[in-house]
Amino acid sequence: MLKIVLLGAPGSGKGTQSATLVEDYGVPQISTGDLLRSAVADQTDLGKKAKAAMDAGELVSDDIVVGMIHERLNQPDTENGFILDGFPRSQAQAEVLDELLDDLGRPLQCVIHLQVDNEELVNRLMARGRADDNEDTIRNRLSVYQDQTEPLVAYYEQRGLLKPVAGVGTVDQIHARIKDALAGI
Ligand code: AP5
Repeated sequence: MLKIVLLGAPGSGKGTQSATLVEDYGVPQISTGDLLRSAVADQTDLGKKAKAAMDAGELVSDDIVVGMIHERLNQPDTENGFILDGFPRSQAQAEVLDELLDDLGRPLQCVIHLQVDNEELVNRLMARGRADDNEDTIRNRLSVYQDQTEPLVAYYEQRGLLKPVAGVGTVDQIHARIKDALAGI
């Protein structure tokens, strides 16, 4: 059983680290970014609504994202847990998540906060080259993170759920740090 959130700025390694944690713990990664990109690629109504915000590095509206998460967390493969990657991203989303997990009787065990400085984040994202990895969008994603998502560090710290992890070094080194943090929960 593992019920965690990976919290961190764009490029901090949430997706990269989720991939190995999925193998370690046998629980699904739930990435709102991946779900949204797949809706955009399939040109669904939801994808068409989300695309402009994603291209600009803004948050997609809560009604879209919360609806997706609600549906995903009600699927049976999440019964033994989940790794949330990229959700929640605002206090409103965090409050909805608390309610949703309360209803399901599956409260969060911890929130891993991947800490990486801005220069390293920009270098990683510029090197990757995803559709939203151009300079203007990266700048806006980092600023949206700082304004809307970073306050969740204090939100989860107050609830005793926050585990800070240095997100620099090799992927394996960071993975080992996360495993250490999870060993204590
Ligand atoms: P999302 O897909 O969540 O993007 P993001 O948060 O900007 O995160 P990234 O995928 O860029 O970074 P990551 O932390 O996963 O790092 P990664 O492992 O990929 O969201 C995209 C958009 O969707 C948002 O802007 C928004 O519009 C919308 N959205 C999503 N969720 C939403 C929500 N809840 N509410 C509203 N809107 C939402 O690594 C990045 C790069 O670094 C890779 O190339 C990787 O290979 C490399 N890397 C990883 N680790 C290391 C390392 N240790 N050393 C060197 N390089 C590394």
